[in-house]
Formats: sequence, structure tokens, C-alpha cells
Amino acid sequence: MRKPLVAGNWKMNKTVEQATSLVQEMLPGLKKINEVERVICPPFTSLVTLSVALAGSGVGLGAQTMHWEASGAFTGEVAPQMVKEFCQYVIIGHSERRQYFAETDETVNKKVKAALAIGLTPIVCVGESLAQYEAGETKALVNHQISEGFKGIEASDATKIVVAYEPIWAIGTGKAATSEGANAVLRDAIRPAMAQLWGKSTAEGIRILYGGSVNAANAAEYFHQSDIDGALVGGASLKVADFTAIVEAARP
Ligand code: PGA
Repeated sequence: MRKPLVAGNWKMNKTVEQATSLVQEMLPGLKKINEVERVICPPFTSLVTLSVALAGSGVGLGAQTMHWEASGAFTGEVAPQMVKEFCQYVIIGHSERRQYFAETDETVNKKVKAALAIGLTPIVCVGESLAQYEAGETKALVNHQISEGFKGIEASDATKIVVAYEPIWAIGTGKAATSEGANAVLRDAIRPAMAQLWGKSTAEGIRILYGGSVNAANAAEYFHQSDIDGALVGGASLKVADFTAIVEAARP
């Protein structure tokens, strides 16, 4: 009942020219896998060009962040309406944004509300650091990130949200969480935290992705788990064969 979703987070990689040729290479394979919602999130500079390249392909486009205000004196920022011109999705609260650009649960909350208000699907990232993991604080931390990040959002809007559980120690490290371990966090912490906010049946309908060193070899293991509905993929999303294989593995 929850359609699988695989999103590629290209991070700060690829010029427009490089992005265009990567998408041209990926598109024939990705186009065919309709059973999976697939999304590409390139840097802002490539959104215009890729929105044309992806038009009618069934492959969605997302931004990696945005501001919550509609316009104004926010040098360097991009407004929801500007993202919405080209995209259907926006990643919010990625751990790299939280770590390097001072994003907090409070700014995440504002951004999620802005995304929902304008009709963008927010892909909202949560997850613990290595120190928090080792201290056994994962459950409490994600609980807090969910309750604060989604404060004031109505149940009727909640089903439009996608959550990505990304343990920080697993991002870009090659040290992926075990599929059982990741699933346990989704099942025992993230979904219950959302059930607290919106009730069990709404929480059951919300898609939760796993992210952190997902690759072509380990993807299927995650997708076989009860609560993992897809993946947010960094490094492997820049490789045609790997990303296509990950999307393929998410077929129900
Ligand atoms: P990774 O990144 O797949 O390279 O670990 C995941 C992410 O940051 O979304």
C-alpha cells in the first residue's frame, strides 16, 4: 500500500553539462520501472535543465534544500515557489545541512510546512550521530526530531510527507546500518513517533526510507524489511548501473 520510493541525492556534484549527460544515460533504464517512485535531486543549478530532460519520463525531480520564506532579503537562499517551478520534491533537514549549515528541528519544521503549503513532497531526514548511537540514544533522538520537526502539521497533510532515516555514521562511510537494525528504528521509533502525532493508521501510510551507504549489492536487503519503503541514495546515485539496480531492487 505504500509505493516504494528511491531518491538520488547528488549533493554538491555535477555541472549542468555533466548532469545532463548522466540523466541521458540513466533515463532509458529508470523510465521502465514505473512501480517505483524515482527521484533525482541535483544541485539547484541543474534543476531547470533537468526539468526539461525529465519531462514526461515519470522520473521526479527534487531540490536538496530550500528556504521557508516566500521571498525577501535572504542572500543565497531559494524560495519554495522557485523550487516548485521545476520540482515535485525537496529534501529537508539532511544531516549535512544540520551539521554544516546550522539547520535545526525548528527550521526543519518551518521548511516542511512551507513545502506542504506549496504542494512539494518533503523528504525529511532524521538520524543519530555515532556518539548518540553508541550511547544508545537513537530512539530518543529520532523521536525528538519527529515530534519537533512535524509539530503543528495536520494528519491530512502528514501522508504527503516522506521520512528518511539516515544514521550519520552510515552516510558516505561504506558502513551501512544492518537492514534489521535500520528496520527496528523505523518500526519501533519513527513510526510510533508519527502515530503519537497523527494516529496509527496515518502513520502506517507514511513512507519511510533508509539512507546511508546504500548500494547495488545491499539495497534489496533493506527493501525486504517490513517498514523500509525505499532509499535515499548518495554516492551510488551518481553511477548509472548502481542507481538503476537500486531502483530495480525496490520493485514490490
Ligand atoms: P550515501 O549518502 O549513500 O553516500 O551514504 C546518503 C545521503 O547522504 O543521503
